[in-house]
Amino acid sequence: MNLLKERILSDGRAINADVLKVDSFINHQVDTVLMEAVAEDFARHFKDKGITKIVTIESSGIAPALLTAHELGVPLVIFKKKASRVLNGSLLQTEVTSFTTNSTYELTASPKFLKSDDHVLIIDDFLANGEAVTGAIRLLRMAHATVAGIGILIEKSFQPGRKKLEEAGFEVYSLARIKEMSTGHIEFID
Ligand code: G4P
Repeated sequence: MNLLKERILSDGRAINADVLKVDSFINHQVDTVLMEAVAEDFARHFKDKGITKIVTIESSGIAPALLTAHELGVPLVIFKKKASRVLNGSLLQTEVTSFTTNSTYELTASPKFLKSDDHVLIIDDFLANGEAVTGAIRLLRMAHATVAGIGILIEKSFQPGRKKLEEAGFEVYSLARIKEMSTGHIEFID
């Protein structure tokens, strides 16, 4: 998606070969006009896939996921990154390890909002190692829902996330695919 790629080039900042800062339009401040364009693109791409719900992982995925859900006329379900204090069987949980932040968390979903006839589009801001999305897929399986595809704003294609997900049989649709980067330099896959 050219609009997103142009914005990454103008306002994004590769702080090293692995981490891209996009604080001013995705992570800390959100450009709502850009997010609307992102949502229109996702909605156009996935409109014939029979999607019944969008799932995202808090927090930066919420803005694009919400607008995409609105475009497709389906609800948004948010998976939380906090362990529940009430482990009474009413929540689904799975452990996710983030290599970027060197941390582990319990990804948590409420099964009340996921049914076996749900066909879910997962949306997130970044795809790096694919750990968060893989955790979300595990929770969707526990809820007996099916995965329609995965929509990503920024894919770091030099990391293994896409390969892992594709090998597991999932469609990954990324709006900006970064081939490589270094301080002051970002190169996309066309
Ligand atoms: P993975 O799920 O693909 O394996 O990714 P990973 O755990 O490595 O990423 C953990 C967190 O770091 C995620 O955000 C992800 O969006 C973010 N992240 C990964 N690579 C980059 C990057 O190059 N730049 C930026 N800005 N973020 C990156 P999070 O901790 O869940 O934060 P948030 O969603 O609450 O903002």
